[in-house]
Amino acid sequence: MAILFSFFTFLLLSLSPPQRTLAGDQSCRPTCGSLKLKYPFGSGCGCGSPRFHPYVTCEPTSNQLTLTTHTGSYPITSISYATSTLTITPPYMSTCNSMQQSPNLGLDWTSPFQLGPSTFLLLSCPSPTCSLAINGSPVCDSSSSHLCDSIYTCPSVTGLVLPMFPPSNSCCVYSPANFNSKGELDLRSLKCEGYTSIVSLQDYPTDPNQWQYGVLLKYEKGAFDSYDIDNKCNACEESGGVCGYAPPGNSFICACDIGYNTTTQCRVWMSPGTADALHARTGIAKPRQFLLFIGEYAKVICLSA
Ligand SMILES: *[C@@H]1O[C@H](CO)[C@@H](O)[C@H](O)[C@H]1NC(C)=O
Repeated sequence: MAILFSFFTFLLLSLSPPQRTLAGDQSCRPTCGSLKLKYPFGSGCGCGSPRFHPYVTCEPTSNQLTLTTHTGSYPITSISYATSTLTITPPYMSTCNSMQQSPNLGLDWTSPFQLGPSTFLLLSCPSPTCSLAINGSPVCDSSSSHLCDSIYTCPSVTGLVLPMFPPSNSCCVYSPANFNSKGELDLRSLKCEGYTSIVSLQDYPTDPNQWQYGVLLKYEKGAFDSYDIDNKCNACEESGGVCGYAPPGNSFICACDIGYNTTTQCRVWMSPGTADALHARTGIAKPRQFLLFIGEYAKVICLSA
């Protein structure tokens, strides 16, 4: 106990007068646009997991979380922390509202992202699509060709220079999809003009206006992060901080919402007993509660004295 008291006394005496500052300059942001950012995602270098940083950033001008790969940059439209999945909406992907030619879509092998279970429809392919093959294996799932019939009722098919209601044998349901050895959905070698990807049919298999479009990706969390980091990160997030790392060694940091970093967590609520004891020991007016910030820049902050 004595050691604990002198620790608190040391903190109190070594610090500037207690004062609560609410700076909005948190170095690692807890949100990007409407998306909540939690580990392993981060708003920039030093935030989240170092394995995610080169691939995922919060674009400062558009406030849009973006995944960048060797084939392009893709807006991240949702993240599920419970299932370790995210959805990207490639700008040149077709949907029922807009059909267009698409470049190859690719993921980097070195990144922590893999293709999840979306349903790809390859559009405007050479017919008959049953002869489309990758490494000799047929690509198209003929049992789901009703999805092709549905998507080709969208008026925007003309954007792919297809006639209204074109024969759906120029469309191919590719599910589960695999990317080639370069990590790409290789439309060029299949000679398809475009693609769409469906995350969910939303219970309307015949109404492509109701479908949810996007490419579902899975991400690996923890594979290269130590148990220790995950544990520290939970405590940091629960205390209102954002998990990050300090290059070049990439040691764990917790970025706090009043503009500084700690090596543990942002605040610890003191029990009333500890607050009483601290008052008895130091004579400092007893606040109702102390917020204790620990780490590189230790601070004791009193609320509602
Ligand atoms: C806190 O950490 C972030 C991410 O590593 C860094 O950008 C920022 O400069 C640090 N802030 C302080 C006050 O050290």
